[in-house]
Amino acid sequence: MTDNTFTPRVFSGIKPSGGLQLGNYLGAIKRFVGMQGEMETVYCVVDLHAITVWQDPAELANGTREVAAGYLAAGLDPTKSILFNQSRVSAHAELAWIFNCVARVGWMNRMTQFKDKAGSNAEKASLGLYAYPSLMAADILLYHATHVPVGDDQKQHVELTRNIASKFNHDFKTDFFPMTEPVIEGSATRIMNLRDGTQKMSKSGESDMERINMLDDADTIAKKLKKAKTDPEPLPETVDGLANRPEARNLVDIYAALADITPEEVIAQYSGAGWGTFKPALADLAVSKLAPISVAMKQHMDDPAEIDRILANGAEKAREIADPILNKTYDIVGLLRS
Ligand code: TYM
Repeated sequence: MTDNTFTPRVFSGIKPSGGLQLGNYLGAIKRFVGMQGEMETVYCVVDLHAITVWQDPAELANGTREVAAGYLAAGLDPTKSILFNQSRVSAHAELAWIFNCVARVGWMNRMTQFKDKAGSNAEKASLGLYAYPSLMAADILLYHATHVPVGDDQKQHVELTRNIASKFNHDFKTDFFPMTEPVIEGSATRIMNLRDGTQKMSKSGESDMERINMLDDADTIAKKLKKAKTDPEPLPETVDGLANRPEARNLVDIYAALADITPEEVIAQYSGAGWGTFKPALADLAVSKLAPISVAMKQHMDDPAEIDRILANGAEKAREIADPILNKTYDIVGLLRS
């Protein structure tokens, strides 16, 4: 078997901790929906990843449904994609253990996200947070996924996944696992904080004004964009003129991603415009694209039983792909099964 004999298949996931923000939508969910129909698509709410830091149990359950509602509201169709939550498919945790025994401590020590999240007190971080990238490799390789759409911050983890696949294949003299490609494309691979264009937009930022939440209503979306930090200059003649203007660059990228055009096209349209012109145009565009999703998300969340049913069905379909791959992995490693 060579790499190109693997059936093209997409896998990606989102953590159910702290709610969804615009970066999750533009950098991930919107692109996941766009890949539906192009090839087989498997999308997950990665609840086992969320518990690498403390989660209140009731909030975790609610957050899992919220991410599922976000996927559905953005256009993910459970008849076209497999949609499930990770903990329902136990093969994720089982393959992760095998990969814990393949990955090297030195590799884990280089993971920048662990360093960022554990901060100065790494001794007190959970062992799960440290091993997190190995579980992520298991998520991907359990489906022999060939393509993984993610934001820029996950690139290193997908590269580690390739290293784990490669070492496994080498150690066991096989070509069982594919070399997965990270798919990091478009203008929204790194959406930045609205109050500080040098920081990534995230769910955990201190002020709510820093981010747009997918559950924000139309007025809140418009207010946050109109109050977003900018510089005194008008928009430049070319995209190169956005270099060293992180806040301006971010708002142009957000506009481009929402309008499905390139940053060059945004600049062609708004070159020379001041913020008094551009920000209201961006706010109108964002409200027209995001407010209906927020409304649909709330509707889905009003019917948690339906979300649970969709996730349970998705898990059944996920197991049909995952279980044979896990079983074969056990055979390759020499683990006896009945
Ligand atoms: P998570 O839950 O932090 O983020 C989910 C997805 O959203 C993207 N994203 C962003 N994209 C652009 N700009 C931003 N500001 C921004 N913030 C978040 C992330 O890059 C990601 O694609 N470890 C992963 C979840 C995961 C996973 C997987 C992903 C677990 N297993 C297997 C792919 C394949 C994470 O914590 O993403």
